[in-house]
Amino acid sequence: MNRDELLRLLVQEETGFVSGQEISNRLGISRTAVWKQIEELRKSGYEVEAVPRKGYRLLHRPNMVTSEEIKSRLETEHLGQHVIYNEEVTSTQDLAHEQAQKSAPEGTIVVADRQTKGKGRLGRVWHSPPEHGLWTSLILRPNIPPYKAPQLTLLTAVAVAEGAGNLTGAEAEIKWPNDVLLNGKKLCGILTEMQSEADMIHAIIVGIGMNVNQQVQDFPEELKGIATSLRLEYGAPFRRADVLKEILERFEYWYQRFLTEGFEPVRNQWEVYALSFGRRIKARTIQGTIYGIAKGITADGVLLLEDDEGKTQQIYSADIEIQ
Ligand code: BTN
Repeated sequence: MNRDELLRLLVQEETGFVSGQEISNRLGISRTAVWKQIEELRKSGYEVEAVPRKGYRLLHRPNMVTSEEIKSRLETEHLGQHVIYNEEVTSTQDLAHEQAQKSAPEGTIVVADRQTKGKGRLGRVWHSPPEHGLWTSLILRPNIPPYKAPQLTLLTAVAVAEGAGNLTGAEAEIKWPNDVLLNGKKLCGILTEMQSEADMIHAIIVGIGMNVNQQVQDFPEELKGIATSLRLEYGAPFRRADVLKEILERFEYWYQRFLTEGFEPVRNQWEVYALSFGRRIKARTIQGTIYGIAKGITADGVLLLEDDEGKTQQIYSADIEIQ
């Protein structure tokens, strides 16, 4: 779409002007069409200076996660090349499921400014207010058997931990299976859902909820001591589209390796970030609560826990507390 490309041109020239003629040549549209597109950008909150004989210069871009903002900076091959942006949705997971059923291609991402019914793991509500957070769902169609799907959750945690580390310079940690923490507080949650038959995956929907620009007072009371944001850890706000770019690019890197080399490289990297190994944890599962020492994860991403009787338990799904 012209607007994505126009923005890309203006962004590349962020320090200077780009002439109307050059835009017209590069985009293959008339000078009048260029001017109209610039007007459209202005209506969406962009500040674009126009100076005769010099051209256009971008002075301010809104901190949004629209398709233009994402695509004008993204350097992935597939992931995020098709963006569905809405200001408000019930949940990006729901919309992604719908789109996956309507055969949205692999790599499509659904993004929203706010969610009215954000979904967390284990049926919980995910607090998703506007402006501060990054709420997105990725549609993937990997050619893997359904039992391997949980590996993608761990892969996502690796991509997010790496991205968060790159952005803030802080060392991110992963709490099994998929909470990404900075300085011991939760920065990001991941929810993986699947559309499949017994032996075939139709789509995997990976939901990522990342706290970006929240200040302490922006979190609800019950999250205050346990949640954090990139801004709180770094000391300055971020552009959400920059954060998404970083995560998608890290994700694509690991996803391509996963598809060609299998889970092993992901697992090794996951272990680098793992918070709980060798520590005593409390695992609340549907079957009950188990205490023990976290020993590692299996090739399939299952947590191994040595319980108080010295027996190794395999944990497929649980809430973990580090003791
Ligand atoms: C967790 O409980 O830790 C997982 C939270 C996942 C939240 C994200 S936000 C984007 C996507 N849409 C949702 O409704 N949930 C996920």
